[in-house]
Amino acid sequence: MKLTKLPYLIAIDGPAGSGKGTIAKLISKKLDLNYLDSGAIYRIIALAATRENLRSEQAQELVSLVKKINMRFESEEIFLNEEVVTNEIRASEISQYSSEIAAHLPLRAEILSFQRAFYKGNGLVAEGRDMTTIVFPEADLKIYLDASPQERAKRRYKQLIVKGNNVNMSDLTSEIEARDKRDIERKVSPLKVADEAKILNTDDLTIDQTVNKILSFIT
Ligand code: C5P
Repeated sequence: MKLTKLPYLIAIDGPAGSGKGTIAKLISKKLDLNYLDSGAIYRIIALAATRENLRSEQAQELVSLVKKINMRFESEEIFLNEEVVTNEIRASEISQYSSEIAAHLPLRAEILSFQRAFYKGNGLVAEGRDMTTIVFPEADLKIYLDASPQERAKRRYKQLIVKGNNVNMSDLTSEIEARDKRDIERKVSPLKVADEAKILNTDDLTIDQTVNKILSFIT
């Protein structure tokens, strides 16, 4: 598929396990656009912070830490400084911790330009919680990807098991519920449906069907 307008910017938001990562990555490949997994940024910071024994309330210290570390995405790997942390940042404690620190406005402000810098070349597919509302309000296409809590927990479970993580379904369901609640209820950049966003419930859609549906919105 060829885009008629370049650069092109697609922003996708949605709750944990809604399929944003898989779908956004596939679309970026199909359209030859860059890809931003903004959740991974919060996860890298969370990992670095736990190693420094910071508590999630220590907003100023977290901001200082962000200034010090180097975060990098290279093909399929994610780096904290020179270390590959691709799998480690998916651990359950890191998921919870990342959603706690994500509530701090100064921290979010600190990483704003880093995220925006991914919009270059042919354009970008960015996914997270505030891509359609705060980071890329000018996006050409905004999608809110949703699925039922049961379906989302099932998908996350499969993903984590394949990657060798040790998880159980009921812990995972509670973790996802707690994170969703925190992400939706927080004052700063809460997860919400942007005015112009197209809402897609993917409960009964395959990955291919979801990708094709999103591509059909691009004219
Ligand atoms: O997308 P993922 O589940 O990896 O994100 C981890 C956490 O990072 C989320 O639960 C959310 O609290 C936070 N996050 C955010 N804004 C984004 C992406 C993620 O607050 N744009």
